[in-house]
Amino acid sequence: MGNFEPGQAIEGAYDPEAFREIGHRLVDHVADYMKSARAREMPVLDMPPADEMLADWPSEFPPQGDGQVVERLKRFIEQANHLHNPGFVGHQVSAPLPAAILCDMVGSLLNNGMAVYEMGPAQTMAELHVVQFLAERIGFSGDAGGILTHGGSLGNLTALLAARQAKAGEDVWQAGQEQSYAVLASAENHYCVSRAVRIMGWGEGGIESVPVDSNFRMRPECLAEAKRAAEARGRQVLAVVASDCTTSTGSFDPIDAVADFCELHDLWLHVDAAHGGSALMHDEHRGLLKGIQRADSVVWDLHKMMLMPALITGVIFKENRRSYEAFAQEASYLFEGDDPEKEWFNVGSRTMECTKRALGTTAYVLLQALGTDLFGQYFDRAVRLTRAFADLVRGSADFELGLDPACNIVCFRYMGGYGSDRDAQQMRLRAQVLKAGNFYIVQTRLDGQVFLRLTLIQPFTTLQMLRDLLDEIRSFGEA
Ligand SMILES: Cc1ncc(COP(=O)(O)O)c(C=O)c1O
Repeated sequence: MGNFEPGQAIEGAYDPEAFREIGHRLVDHVADYMKSARAREMPVLDMPPADEMLADWPSEFPPQGDGQVVERLKRFIEQANHLHNPGFVGHQVSAPLPAAILCDMVGSLLNNGMAVYEMGPAQTMAELHVVQFLAERIGFSGDAGGILTHGGSLGNLTALLAARQAKAGEDVWQAGQEQSYAVLASAENHYCVSRAVRIMGWGEGGIESVPVDSNFRMRPECLAEAKRAAEARGRQVLAVVASDCTTSTGSFDPIDAVADFCELHDLWLHVDAAHGGSALMHDEHRGLLKGIQRADSVVWDLHKMMLMPALITGVIFKENRRSYEAFAQEASYLFEGDDPEKEWFNVGSRTMECTKRALGTTAYVLLQALGTDLFGQYFDRAVRLTRAFADLVRGSADFELGLDPACNIVCFRYMGGYGSDRDAQQMRLRAQVLKAGNFYIVQTRLDGQVFLRLTLIQPFTTLQMLRDLLDEIRSFGEA
C-alpha cells in the first residue's frame, strides 16, 4: 500500500495563510497599478517585437517551483496592454470594474462548472436572472430566455444553430443537412458570423452580402435582391443577421425594416448587438436599436460596453424554447429525461460549453451592487465624448472624418503633411502613436482606404486627451 497523505509540496500549494499573505501583497499592487495607469504613468503599450518577447520569457517549467507567484504576475501586469490607462482608445474591450476583479477571484475559488444545476446551484440562478434582465432591456416578453456564453463569436454561432433548427424544415441536428443554406448579412458584419456559417458547413456561399449605405448601414431595400441571388445559387435562406453596431464603424443596421422583411419571408432575425446592445441601458440611446424586440435572437457582450471582464455574452432568444434547439442533443450521463426544457436549471444543454465559468455571477453581483444606472451613464458619456471628438476632427482642416459616429466608435484620418500614399501614411502614423506610448489606437479600412479608428470605451478618457492625440498625430504628420 502506498502512502496517500498529501506531500509537503501540495500542502504548501494549498496553504491558506500563504494565500492570505500573497493575496494582500497582490491586491496592494493591483490597487497601486490602477492608480498609476489612470494617472498615465506608463505607456499604454510598450511592446517589443514578438520574437524578442518570446525570447524574453523563460520557457522552462521546473520540477520544483520557486513560489514566486506575485513577482511573475507583476511582470505580466508591467508588460500588458494597459486598458486602465485612459489613453487606451483602441479595440472594444473594457477596463473592468475593480469589483469585477474580485468577482473573478471568487469565480476561480469556487470553480462551479455550471453544466448542470448541482455543479453551480446559485451560479445558475445568477445566470438566469442576468439573462432575464437583458431580455427585459431588449423589450422581449416573459417568454424570452437564453444563456451566457464565452464571447460574442460563440454567441452568434449558438444563435445561428438555433435559427437553422427552427427554419430549415429538416432536423439537421438529428439527420444532418440535405439542403444548402445561407444567411443574409451586410459585408460589415463581424467575421465571426462568416466563421459560424462555415462551421455549420455552408462554406463561403453561406453568407449573401447585402449592400450598405454611405454610413455603412445595411440597405434593407436590397434584402429581396440578396435573397434572390442566394436562391439562384441553390441556397435556402434561413436568416438575416443585423449588426448593431458594426465593429469597424459603429454603424447600426435598421432593425425595424429588416424585421419587416423577415416577417414577410418567414426568416429568422438575429441581431448581433455585441457592442451596441449596451445602448439599451440609457433611455436617450436605446433608439439606436429601435425594433430590437422584434428579433428572434440577440447577442450582447457585457465585456465591451458594460465594463465587465472578458468574456461574458448574453445570447437571448425571444422564445426561450428556441435556445434548447441549438444543441438538441441527449447526454444521458448529465441530463435526466428526454425533455431538456423540464430541466431548465441545467444550462449546459443549451451551450457549446460543458464546464463553463460562472459568468452570470460576475454580472449579477456588479448589476446589483453598483446598480444599473451606472452602466447607462457610462454609455452616455462615451457617446457624448465621441460626438465632441468628431466635432474636433470636423473642425480641423488637416483631418478627415470617415463618417458621423453613431455611438462611440470613430474613424478619421490625417490629410495634412506631404504624402501621396495616404494609406501608408495612416499606418505609419498609427505605428508612431503606438511607439510614443501615450495612446493605443487601431486602424480599419473604409471603402478600401485606411482610416485610424478609436473606440472611446475607457471611462476616464477626456476630450483634452483626444485634443492631445490629434496634436500628436499632426506633429508626426508634419515631421
Ligand atoms: C459586432 C461584433 N460581433 C461579434 C464580435 C465578437 O465578439 P467576441 O470577441 O466577444 O467573441 C465582436 C467583437 O468585436 C463584434 O464587434
